[in-house]
Amino acid sequence: MKRIVVIGGSDQFYGRVQQAFPDAGERLYRWFENLDGVTSLRAILTLDPAVVVFGPDLPPNVALTVASEFDRARPDVSIVIAARESAIGVEQALAVGVRGVLRPDSDPKQIAHVIGKAFHAVQARSTKAPRSEPTRVPKSRVITVAGPKGGSGKTMVSTNLAVGLASMAPRGVVILDLDLQFGDVAYALSLKPRHSLYDAVSTTGPLDLTTLKVFIAHHRSELYALCAPEDPARGEMISADSVSEIVSLLMSEFRYVVIDTNAGLSEHTLSAFEVSTDVVFLADMDVPSVRHLRKVLDALDRLGMTEHERHYVLNRADSRVGLTMADAAKAAGISIDIEIPSSRHVPVALNTGTPLLLSNPKSPVSRALRTLIDRFATAEEHPIRRPMKWSA
Ligand SMILES: Nc1ncnc2c1ncn2[C@@H]1O[C@H](COP(=O)(O)OP(=O)(O)OP(=O)(O)O)[C@@H](O)[C@H]1O
Ligand SMILES: [Mg+2]
Repeated sequence: MKRIVVIGGSDQFYGRVQQAFPDAGERLYRWFENLDGVTSLRAILTLDPAVVVFGPDLPPNVALTVASEFDRARPDVSIVIAARESAIGVEQALAVGVRGVLRPDSDPKQIAHVIGKAFHAVQARSTKAPRSEPTRVPKSRVITVAGPKGGSGKTMVSTNLAVGLASMAPRGVVILDLDLQFGDVAYALSLKPRHSLYDAVSTTGPLDLTTLKVFIAHHRSELYALCAPEDPARGEMISADSVSEIVSLLMSEFRYVVIDTNAGLSEHTLSAFEVSTDVVFLADMDVPSVRHLRKVLDALDRLGMTEHERHYVLNRADSRVGLTMADAAKAAGISIDIEIPSSRHVPVALNTGTPLLLSNPKSPVSRALRTLIDRFATAEEHPIRRPMKWSA
């Protein structure tokens, strides 16, 4: 019998886990004893755990150390850590194989979502269909733009990518801003949206496509945008599990869904990865940025998030340091697909709210962006060969 084993945890926390799984019975097990390395690990494994939850009372360094031992010994067991975000970052946790992170005060609904997902990941791994089976070709492409470092150019790339795709598939593209606290897709596109993703997720009753469309803004390049809320506090109220629901609805209407994300690996970005067909990874022009990206890729591989196609973009690629960067990327096992040069036109375009592809289509940056866009062009859609016209 596969179990959920909760190690430590205050009575309040465990009480909320019990509320999250009211029918679990013996499948839910609380481990009270001290954690003393290999002995405890063996003893916990005799309980046949599918998910091991490290409660909030454990010192974060102990939880992370034991989590990484678990990951090495039994990668088939999913690990969830409950800790303050400041104590254990999502990326740090993922780096040691943690499948989900909860806050000490997470409510039963959040607990059920995170632990439930970890539980299903174990079941999915054990019943995974063989690779040779024909896979369904998705109708829509969901392209998430991500990067471990802040300011690496995610918004610049995602907005231009969306505008470029919209020129191939007018009205067939939507950009979703998942930088929920400080999203600036609206700013980069000079949009003043009346609604945001917050309005979409806070509607009463089940959300359907007709209702969702009310919250989507229209850009004059025939692109649609579901923007982040103006108020960062509202951004915090958007749960990670609402992301897949929103993206699924968008996929039922749009040929392309482009997703801008915040720096690093948030729960929301992970949810976006789960439903993405493609991920564009951005690395900046410094060696730690490439190493950091390698760690993120390893973490995603461990989580089994490998279904999407990956595209690697080096931004601000400067010929003077380009050689070192190419070496660094090669050493990290990353083969850069596109290099975007540095240009003063980029900040100007962002500040004036006109994507560079429209304001300066002939610039070397626009040329590099078109190479990226061409990767997503299908046979029936014409890749952009000529500079685009800006119809005001
Ligand atoms: N190729 C480039 N050449 C010159 N400046 C650039 C280039 N790419 C991005 N920038 C500038 O770097 C800054 C950050 O870019 P952008 O906002 O797209 O990054 P981001 O990854 O979305 O940042 P954040 O993590 O804060 O969301 C902006 O001022 C932008 O104009
Ligand atoms: Mg951004």
